Amino acid sequence: MTEAAALAAAPLVGLGDKEAADQAAVDGMRYMLHSVQMDGIVVIGEGEKDEAPMLYNGEQIGDGSPPAVDIAVDPLEGTTLAAHGMPSALAVIALSSRGTMFDPGPCVYMEKMAGSPEIADLLDLDRPLAKTVELIAERKGTAVGDVMAVVLDRPRHEAGIREIREAGARVRLIAHGDVSATLLAVTERSPVDLLWGIGGTPEGVISAAAVKCLGGRLLGRLWPRDDDERRAALDAGSDLSRVLTQDDLVAGDDVFFSATGITDGDVLQGVRYPSAGGATTESLVMRSRSGTIRRIRATHDRSKLRAVGGERF
Ligand code: FBP
Repeated sequence: MTEAAALAAAPLVGLGDKEAADQAAVDGMRYMLHSVQMDGIVVIGEGEKDEAPMLYNGEQIGDGSPPAVDIAVDPLEGTTLAAHGMPSALAVIALSSRGTMFDPGPCVYMEKMAGSPEIADLLDLDRPLAKTVELIAERKGTAVGDVMAVVLDRPRHEAGIREIREAGARVRLIAHGDVSATLLAVTERSPVDLLWGIGGTPEGVISAAAVKCLGGRLLGRLWPRDDDERRAALDAGSDLSRVLTQDDLVAGDDVFFSATGITDGDVLQGVRYPSAGGATTESLVMRSRSGTIRRIRATHDRSKLRAVGGERF
């Protein structure tokens, strides 16, 4: 499904139209989702029914036969990255047993922190960031200057970025794509030790599914943008002070996660066209219950894909 989304979106990489790239990815994923035997409900989708004609929250997917699952999709994670031909755009899907995925409610954003198993117990959303990066250096037996935090480049993060830098640690600023950044942060011996910052709540749930398969830890706390959103969240029963772990965001132990690179990144290679009519993809396909992590490189014949799937490929 993520291969299909990536293959459908890739021809629009770099063309400057993020809506068109997103629509292509949705069409590609949707086409494949049809063929899957399952009784799925989209918990994290492309938005509410009236604004998202496909893969909307609450939509039923599959042929209705067991297993009953919750589905989180982000056919194009990093719409601007794809539109601008920048690194780390992904197609992503996660599945878990029915009723196990966190419903973000009205809160669009969530404060997040993630790291590998080696530093999992050091993560704390309430401790000053300066102290946390010092503790990470101590745990790793390195200088603070060796610690690297990945942070979305946003004005709302200015104080936190300053704090990390003043403690002596380094910051990798990214334009978009905190799912890919979380995958990197929880991977041991990667160039990044810590993910921190406020990003999308849906991306937080999807990242949690990945962390349950890969190991490491993700913490999240809902972050209302203004008083109206705060009120709406409280009315909907959200607990705004609760620190959620990956097990709160995706409960249960049978989680499936798949991501396919659309543009090249640290975690996955993007779609490439090595020959006329040929395409290659790289995907990360994981299951938490078995602990299986597969990296799948595939070659595709675009004319055959079109023969079965139409012009979307
Ligand atoms: P889109 O794919 O919807 O464009 O999201 C990209 C993203 O960068 C996410 O990875 C991140 O969680 C969120 O947007 C951050 O939101 P914002 O750009 O509003 O700060």
